[in-house]
Amino acid sequence: VGRTRAAALDDVKPGCLLGVEVEGRSVCLARLDSGEVYAIAGLCTHEDYGLSDGDLQGRQVECPMHGSRFDVETGAVSGLPANRPVATFPVTVEGGDIFVDV
Ligand code: FES
Repeated sequence: VGRTRAAALDDVKPGCLLGVEVEGRSVCLARLDSGEVYAIAGLCTHEDYGLSDGDLQGRQVECPMHGSRFDVETGAVSGLPANRPVATFPVTVEGGDIFVDV
């Protein structure tokens, strides 16, 4: 598919998450305080709750439902109860827009 425009950079404030649909997939964008943008799957691997409704703490996204944590860069679980990583997608930021390759 290649990369697809997912959002304007200004739509995601530093330290925040944004849920978007990219090519029919639910994606959670995460913009670190440092400005870097990452994209992970939008649904928690525990019980499919929407991760973009959770919190970004440093480089970890915390699921709002039961508190599982995932690393935004690797998708690895860093906090139970989830035990499977979330998918991660390559991100490019260009001309004030965020592109994601799902
Ligand atoms: S659905 Fe995310 S921790 Fe349970």
